Amino acid sequence: MSATLIDGTSIAAEVRGEVGEVVAEMRNKHGIAPGLAVVLIGDDPASAVYVRMKERAAIEAGMVSETINLPADTPQEEALAVVQRLNEDARYHGILVQLPLPDQIDEDTVIQSINPDKDVDGLHPFNMGLLMAGKPRFIPATPAGIQQMLLRTGNDPSGKHVVVCGRSNIVGKPIMNLLMQRQDGANATVSVCHTRTRDLATMTRQADILIAAVGSPQMITADMVREDVVVIDVGVNRVDAPERRRGYRLVGDVDFDAVAEKAAAITPVPGGVGPMTIAMLLQNTMNAARWSIHPDLR
Ligand code: GUN
Repeated sequence: MSATLIDGTSIAAEVRGEVGEVVAEMRNKHGIAPGLAVVLIGDDPASAVYVRMKERAAIEAGMVSETINLPADTPQEEALAVVQRLNEDARYHGILVQLPLPDQIDEDTVIQSINPDKDVDGLHPFNMGLLMAGKPRFIPATPAGIQQMLLRTGNDPSGKHVVVCGRSNIVGKPIMNLLMQRQDGANATVSVCHTRTRDLATMTRQADILIAAVGSPQMITADMVREDVVVIDVGVNRVDAPERRRGYRLVGDVDFDAVAEKAAAITPVPGGVGPMTIAMLLQNTMNAARWSIHPDLR
């Protein structure tokens, strides 16, 4: 492997340390501990793991955190009532409803019911609008984490061609808006590719920075990238691995071994984007608490 490994775990530890210091100061000076409420509906095992990691990380950073577990058949009205109660609960500065939701619950309706001042996921249309307008408040955690990984490894996107594969609300659209802004840490030329893109490889080969967020195991192959590209792999895909105790292993959207032979730098899966997402959620929660004391600092 010739690429430098972008170690998300250690960069996330750095960010979590910084957040922890601010939280300690908030507790000492203002007697306020940032609070994060996580709502988990249903029993998707992967979601349960993510939620547990988020709660644990919040507590480790000195925050207050609670997970509200609701059964898979929870009616939408009940989910909305839980969010409403959390909107009014002053202990919680941040609310996160883990996605995906069971079929009977409309994702948009739930997201729009969260008080935008507590929307630490940054998915409420109000916060998405602020990001698009170049006045971001809560930036969705995965795109925010990607930006930090790039900046903290000396890969400033300014002037670079960033090619994003995937157009989701949670990664593709916000990372496009984030990196194209006229702002420090951004100023990139961004192209977004998706399932209807004609000749995807011609696009991806033009990338200085390639961000793969398609949810398709090892879809980005070595012939699709140019030498010295910087690769950020957002994918977390389970593939069968009978030799493993769990019966599966995690792979990204990038064919890691082959692409690492050509790339200048690359994120691993696991241990790349995933830990950064948790770290940035904590940063958003810390900001939510801080802005609840000083709205003028937003
Ligand atoms: N499911 C997968 N990623 C995320 C995320 O960042 N936020 C929420 N709420 N759900 C998710």
